[in-house]
Amino acid sequence: MVDLVLKKGRIVFPDGIREGDVVIERGVIVEITPEYKEEAKRVIDCTGKYIFPGVIDAHVHMRIPGSPYKEDFTTGSMAAISGGVTGFLDMPNNIPPIISKKMLAEKRDLVGDNSFANYGFFFGATDDNVDEIKRLSNIAGIKVYMGQSTGNLIVRKDETLENIFSYGKFPVVVHAESQECLERFASEYAGEDSRARADYHSVVRPPECAREAVKHVLHLAKKYNASVHIAHVTTAEELDIIRKFKSEKVTCEAAPHHLIFDTTSYEKFSNRLKVNPPIRSKEDTEALWAGITDGTIDIIASDHAPHLLNEKDAPYEECPAGVPGIETILPIMLDAVNRGLVDLERVAKLLAEKPAKIFNIKNKGKIELQYDADLVILDMDLEKIVTNDKLLTKCAWSPFNGMTLKGWPVTTIVGGEVIYDDGKFVSAKRGREFNFEE
Ligand code: DOR
Ligand code: ZN
Repeated sequence: MVDLVLKKGRIVFPDGIREGDVVIERGVIVEITPEYKEEAKRVIDCTGKYIFPGVIDAHVHMRIPGSPYKEDFTTGSMAAISGGVTGFLDMPNNIPPIISKKMLAEKRDLVGDNSFANYGFFFGATDDNVDEIKRLSNIAGIKVYMGQSTGNLIVRKDETLENIFSYGKFPVVVHAESQECLERFASEYAGEDSRARADYHSVVRPPECAREAVKHVLHLAKKYNASVHIAHVTTAEELDIIRKFKSEKVTCEAAPHHLIFDTTSYEKFSNRLKVNPPIRSKEDTEALWAGITDGTIDIIASDHAPHLLNEKDAPYEECPAGVPGIETILPIMLDAVNRGLVDLERVAKLLAEKPAKIFNIKNKGKIELQYDADLVILDMDLEKIVTNDKLLTKCAWSPFNGMTLKGWPVTTIVGGEVIYDDGKFVSAKRGREFNFEE
């Protein structure tokens, strides 16, 4: 007898939505059929609901080691699972940053079996750790900060970028804001009162710093025919450049907060919306939605960057950049489906299929035979208000607090096991480190 049958759901495949049953045995999808007639140990009636691939959030900051008071793998993965995210890729800008093979091993030990969701790790590049990179295995990719952000990871030399690109074993994810440009603007605005204007952060880190970095890094990547992924694009200008370089090897992501908020939102949110790269103009948010529709934007990732509210509500200079988002990434996109901005098949590509493909994650991201049964059941008619008090992230707030969203995950399945159902955790932790194909 098989372990689990998801019955009569609208199954979201890469090429369309068809009604049927998904049959799961030993954690794997073993049959997809219009109607499964045998007995099963458990059957979940999905009538009227959608069966969707588990979301893979390719950009999160879980804060261990260093700041477990902001988030750890238990709380962060609970937030993930409750929001339909069955796997995530964790960034290396920890305290200390993950820049040696030994530190990565220590981080792996620290995570241990504390995650409800599957996960993988990025490794941080510096100007002198290329030798360490060459010793690594089973990582999601190399993270390059071209400009300073939270933490002190940065790559300043072209030579480093060239060495990483020519090595070519791992995907390279780039935080593309030019440090030289950021410093230019910082000195131009030195002495100005950051409280004088609500959009100060967006003015001192302008679009041209992102444009310069994207242009530069894509030229270098092209020279080496390297796989490069531009993290959190925010502007029309970046998208124009990416379109010119676009290939299987040149990919990019956008984050929900950059899709939803624009510089007029600072009036209400102030420094809570301080994030790198910054919130941009209304025209830029529209360009991002157009980039989603025309396929220039490959994935949506949350850039989940939890900081406590007392930290965020400090004066500009002390306020750390970053907003949480792993718990709301799927409902934000489902609400966008209900608002007619994007279709559900594309959302499955943006949140599951493409992240698995870009980062070479084995057997995940699609509802397909022999793929892992990391799945989420959606109620596209359910309306709920995002409420800080109800969130599971340790930082206990969301920039989307107070928003009514239509379309929510109701059941989350990891490795064939129902982990979360109808607002409750119903099974033990099952998160495993991803296997990355090399
Ligand atoms: O706003 C941000 N916060 N941007 C980053 O690049 C890092 C992140 C964090 O770790 O807080
Ligand atoms: Zn980030």
